[in-house]
Amino acid sequence: MRVPLSTLEATASVLMERCDMLARYSESPYQLTRRFASTAMQQVNGIVAQWMRSAGMTVRTDAVGNLIGRYEGTHSGARTLLLGSHLDTVIDAGKYDGIFGVLAALACVERLQQEQRRLPFAIEILAFADEEGLRYNYAYIGSKAVAGTFDCRALTLTDANNLTMSEAICAFGGDPAILRQGRPYWSPADLIGYYELHIEQGPVLEVLDLPVAIVSAISGQSRLRLEFLGQAGHAGTVPMSLRSDALCAAAEFILAVEAIASAESGLVATVGKLTVQPGAPNVIPGQVTLSLDVRHQEDRIREQACRDLHILALELAEQRNVSLVWEEIQASRTVPCSPRLIDQLQKALVNVNQTIQFLPSGAGHDAVAMSDLTEVAMLFLRCRGGISHHPDEMIKQADVEIALEVTEQFLSLLAEQEECR
Ligand code: GLV
Ligand code: MN
Ligand code: MN
Repeated sequence: MRVPLSTLEATASVLMERCDMLARYSESPYQLTRRFASTAMQQVNGIVAQWMRSAGMTVRTDAVGNLIGRYEGTHSGARTLLLGSHLDTVIDAGKYDGIFGVLAALACVERLQQEQRRLPFAIEILAFADEEGLRYNYAYIGSKAVAGTFDCRALTLTDANNLTMSEAICAFGGDPAILRQGRPYWSPADLIGYYELHIEQGPVLEVLDLPVAIVSAISGQSRLRLEFLGQAGHAGTVPMSLRSDALCAAAEFILAVEAIASAESGLVATVGKLTVQPGAPNVIPGQVTLSLDVRHQEDRIREQACRDLHILALELAEQRNVSLVWEEIQASRTVPCSPRLIDQLQKALVNVNQTIQFLPSGAGHDAVAMSDLTEVAMLFLRCRGGISHHPDEMIKQADVEIALEVTEQFLSLLAEQEECR
């Protein structure tokens, strides 16, 4: 029996309710925090899997905990279009970063199913298990596994409880051995591309008074881990002139990071995490570990900034008689979005009477890792005040309706193209 097609308004309203609902699955009762391979992630995977099955999709969970739903195309042997985003969050997160992209893709499949419509390609929705890299300071675990670019050395990284990534994957029901094989899930020839809807996470669309934008490129980023190693000692007895205070070295470095990034247009650099040891009011800090995140749209500028910061850290360490450990954890290049897919997205915007606007992305997205496998495209959705990575993250249902309409158009245009192949 044919089920009447829900209005876009009803579909968007359900999507908003689902975002609210999934935000209740957290590792903390007071805030939304859902890290890779956590119990909260297991619960959310279970719920989304159920929604996928109800939308006529076959569902599987892969070796790393990604949830993957497949909606078949009109014929066997059809190519596949990948849609997705992530279900993990940062600490004290908002409800939409990542989750919106998964649920918007699902909403589009649900509408196809209601229409009993198949496209000349299969759709797979990828709900990635880790994009933020919160638990192991290693981002894109989910999408790298799919693209076959996961670096197996990361399996030995430990979380705050000294649990290795490998152990966490096993406890989640995954299989590190499969990851070690490092095989991409598809041959690129079988794919049409990867498309990700995501909130903008910045204020530009709000300023322009536009609901959506096509992403032009995603900035490259470097993630580093630094350690300043000084000499812990008694806060009351060691004279100032005889100290090797690791925190003072780190403090000087952090301010230099700010100054260097501020001096270069488009460069952003952040020290977001600091661990001070032994960490007592009456002990001179002997060891400080800090994270460093450096981004720019031009890889050359980001890489030069990292080199400059390394030299500066060495100089500061020498001046303060502390030693330095400098370790690059992860780096990703700037990823341009696919001109072929952008072309179709542009047509889709025109067809639904929306202004065409391009935006670069300063935030990292699963599309970065997926670009090693296939061409990628992204659509940004306006978010209130540009606020993200914060519980105040908010989107408007009316904008969601537009994003869904654009995506439906995009799928139809890709279907026409696929039929002409
Ligand atoms: C992901 O949200 C990132 O850009 O760090
Ligand atoms: Mn994020
Ligand atoms: Mn995200």
